[in-house]
Amino acid sequence: MIPVTKPFLPPIEEYQSLIADVWQRQWLTNNGPLVNELELQLKTKLDIPHLLYVTNGTIALQLAIKALNLRGEIITTPFSYVATCSSIIWEGCTPIFVDIDSKNFNINPDLIEASITPKTTAILATHVFGNACDIEAIGRIADKHNLKVIYDAAHCFGTTYKGQSIFKFGDISTTSFHATKLFHTVEGGAVFTKDSDLLKKLAFLRNFGHHGPKEFEEVGINGKNSELHAAMGLLNLNYLDDILQKRKQQSLHYIEKLRHSVIQFPTLNKDTKYNYAYFPVVFQSEAQTLKVIQDLEANRISPRRYFYPSLNTVELFGRSSCPESELIASKVLCLPLYHTLTLTDVDYICRIILRTINN
Ligand SMILES: Cc1ncc(COP(=O)(O)O)c(C=O)c1O
Repeated sequence: MIPVTKPFLPPIEEYQSLIADVWQRQWLTNNGPLVNELELQLKTKLDIPHLLYVTNGTIALQLAIKALNLRGEIITTPFSYVATCSSIIWEGCTPIFVDIDSKNFNINPDLIEASITPKTTAILATHVFGNACDIEAIGRIADKHNLKVIYDAAHCFGTTYKGQSIFKFGDISTTSFHATKLFHTVEGGAVFTKDSDLLKKLAFLRNFGHHGPKEFEEVGINGKNSELHAAMGLLNLNYLDDILQKRKQQSLHYIEKLRHSVIQFPTLNKDTKYNYAYFPVVFQSEAQTLKVIQDLEANRISPRRYFYPSLNTVELFGRSSCPESELIASKVLCLPLYHTLTLTDVDYICRIILRTINN
């Protein structure tokens, strides 16, 4: 069985050793020493001034929307995981979908201004599959219309933009450390901002709004994470270079095998150093995509229709028309990519795909 992904797990003895210390201290959560250590190491590794480790990537998005006091309409992409859009609605705002650029799958900045109304307060864009949005164009539009920018950078651990961590961009960036991500803490996420006042506010919001034991600064939520989760993150960080290197090697091997076919790969942002978080491919038609899925599954290989469906087609989120996103969603597949996937596995997957599309 070859699944679409498998979590990276450090040697169990390493985890047991860190957890034995937790047992000694009996300090399980509420900003413990491992959470602090993880935040410190992440800041150093990513060379960023501020971050907060939180419960997951969805809470990170909700905290970001809340901290910026957003109301009304938030412009967003229909080609993302559901959490991008559901967080907007959960925070009492309305998502306004703007179509994507079919070459890189990110929100198309040329279409944003036409969707701005007096109710628009922000742009929430996803760096899809770890590939940077057109950050400069989005920044120019936001400045012109006085809008806040949040980047959902859930896929972006290890991605840099113009030589800096991509988490540095936007008023707030968020990420996910879910087990399916290339760097994970089982469940987890983070918020990033350059603005120290905003960071302070986010810190209050993460901890029920507490300002000391008796006073409250904000109406907060429980957005904290635990020592057990932080331990997994601290260990996984030691393997990051190897994880990134393996995924790059696997991805380049996929490209080598598939590049002479009709399959489309996303165009990478020229200012991005890519992290190879996913291996998305786009087929010629939905029928061809479904046939590839069928043939892969018959050989015990599980690709994933990611992202599918295009969020603008979901009744719950308010239907609208985004033809490019709908088309890409109907034809995209993420192929298996994980630390222990071998190049022989990649050869096998590619052989099945090529046989199907050439028949
Ligand atoms: C683009 C995107 N945003 C948000 C999330 C939510 O992250 P989490 O699962 O950590 O809540 C995900 C998770 O897969 C994601 O892919």
